[in-house]
Amino acid sequence: MEKKLSIRKHVTEVLGRLTEEQYIEESKQIAQHLFDSPYWNGAQVIALTIPRDQEVDTYEIIKKGWKENKKIAVPRADFKTKKMTFYELTSFDQLEQSAFRMKEPKETLCRIISKGEMELVIVPGVAFDKRGYRLGYGGGFYDRFLPHIKAPTIALAFSCQLVKEVPVDIHDWKIDHIISPTGFYR
Ligand SMILES: Nc1ncnc2c1ncn2[C@@H]1O[C@H](COP(=O)(O)OP(=O)(O)OP(=O)(O)O)[C@@H](O)[C@H]1O
Ligand SMILES: [Mg+2]
Repeated sequence: MEKKLSIRKHVTEVLGRLTEEQYIEESKQIAQHLFDSPYWNGAQVIALTIPRDQEVDTYEIIKKGWKENKKIAVPRADFKTKKMTFYELTSFDQLEQSAFRMKEPKETLCRIISKGEMELVIVPGVAFDKRGYRLGYGGGFYDRFLPHIKAPTIALAFSCQLVKEVPVDIHDWKIDHIISPTGFYR
């Protein structure tokens, strides 16, 4: 637990030092590797999150998905049940600012997308390792969600988010693939 906290803190600090040019350029490189992959091309329904702070930019990924007539599913987190519900986003106007600097879809404006409909899940996180273990923000939301998902899972990571070993607890769930600016890391 201590170890998770200190890696979260360290990686967040290093991420905070990315320049705007680096952020834009490396996000573009990551997105291009995603667009070139069979996971993107084979999926009609894609779940992902809206970036907060220095997370890899997904706005451009969402726009590309819309252009290709894909359905984009974005979660709302319920902090009481620790569960996420995904909604189909068809416009950025459907987003509202919510807790923890997150942007989430307004439930009155969007239809629910069920777990079974998802064909690719792009998973957020702070740090990742070669085995596919991930360190999130400490809520356990994705660790509860991922065991129910049959679709491929992919994380998008700047180089400083790739660490030697993420500390693993019994409930931690692995992701299938990790894309960094230089390509598929896993
Ligand atoms: N499947 C689960 N069932 C019950 N509790 C869980 C489950 N997964 C995680 N938790 C609880 O959630 C808390 C946070 O877990 P952890 O520190 O791994 O979060 P995280 O992986 O950073 O978060 P997230 O998955 O939201 O990105 C832990 O206290 C853990 O016990
Ligand atoms: Mg975890």
